[in-house]
Amino acid sequence: MKVSFAVVNGLALLAAVVSPVLAKSKFPYCTGSTYGITHKNCAKFEFDTLHSNCVETSNCTTFYDITKLPTEKIDAHTEKMAQLITNVFENGNTIMGYAYVEALGDGRGYTSGYIGFTSGTNDALTVIQQYTKRKPKNSLTKYVPELTRLSKLKFCDTQRNDTKKLSGYPAAWTKTACTDPTFVQTQLDVGFAMYLAPALKYAASVNVQSNLGKAIFYDTIINHGWQYVEPLINLPRILKLTGPRKHNETEKSYLNRFLVTRRQLMCCFPDDVWPPAADRVADLQRLVSSWSRNKDLKHPVTLKIYGVTVKGTEDLSYDKAECPKKPKGWKLPAAKTLPIPDTCPNKLLSL
Ligand SMILES: *[C@@H]1O[C@H](CO)[C@@H](O)[C@H](O)[C@H]1NC(C)=O
Ligand SMILES: *[C@@H]1O[C@H](CO)[C@@H](O)[C@H](O)[C@H]1NC(C)=O
Ligand SMILES: *[C@@H]1O[C@H](CO)[C@@H](O)[C@H](O)[C@H]1NC(C)=O
Repeated sequence: MKVSFAVVNGLALLAAVVSPVLAKSKFPYCTGSTYGITHKNCAKFEFDTLHSNCVETSNCTTFYDITKLPTEKIDAHTEKMAQLITNVFENGNTIMGYAYVEALGDGRGYTSGYIGFTSGTNDALTVIQQYTKRKPKNSLTKYVPELTRLSKLKFCDTQRNDTKKLSGYPAAWTKTACTDPTFVQTQLDVGFAMYLAPALKYAASVNVQSNLGKAIFYDTIINHGWQYVEPLINLPRILKLTGPRKHNETEKSYLNRFLVTRRQLMCCFPDDVWPPAADRVADLQRLVSSWSRNKDLKHPVTLKIYGVTVKGTEDLSYDKAECPKKPKGWKLPAAKTLPIPDTCPNKLLSL
């Protein structure tokens, strides 16, 4: 479902009222006393009174200021496990969609790459700008002027969906992702800066330090986002509603409470997109329940509902779903640390 799932939900108006009886039977992971779509479980989300009309940006970013949050590291194996687990939930398998491109019709133009960078929300532009710094001659740079124009529009402007001047962009993206490991690594570096690094900060802010906890925070941030322009569904809201980590509460207990809140939020959201996605949380809850086996993510994990086992030895370097045979000698360059991309018009001009 890529990041755009969260996006679709974020943009959705919340006028619809879900019939509890109907919803209960419709979504198998939204039943019972904890997850049933009932007033008791859902009132705290205030979905019937809060409205998610498009929130305009008020500074140079769609993100919260997280500079003051503490931070923590992630080891290479855990990073791989986290990427793979989330990829299973988003794509149903362990193949990373670097070459994927689609116009989803969600108002964000083209969605592309392994976490759904979009032409309408500045992040595809960030990827291409960073790539151009590394490889000045490439077939995507020519789209920078149009992507820059789109990125300067008001955040809520529906013209951001416009792809008329992006002729050839899908093919160029796919070809580049299938032929240049530097482009793949650039996608991973931007993904790290925009999602994994912030996920680690949010995890550190509640003293979540296990490898499984880090993976859970990564999955949550990819699914729910951390943008203030999506205030009803984002990770900071889940943290707030979960409440602080109690002074001697174990990490396992905290993660359980966090996942209960997250799953309830999905179940209670009044549309047909979030509640069925509660199955991914059920799979994560099962991992937490075998805490001593799974907390370090050293062993393979089985995501039972999705029917996939993640080992951590899978090849993350190549999109073998979208691309032809992996070129000989294919190897990703070293990762580079990037800042969180922002959307200041003057910064956008600086390439
Ligand atoms: C930008 O503004 C929003 C809304 O006032 C705020 O919540 C957010 O933290 C700000 N982001 C940064 C990076 O300052
Ligand atoms: C966005 O544009 C596409 C055509 O490229 C169109 O099919 C789709 O309906 C548009 N979506 C929105 C939300 O405007
Ligand atoms: C937490 O501390 C309280 C007393 O401060 C104690 O009663 C309780 O058993 C402790 N819980 C755990 C999980 O250690």
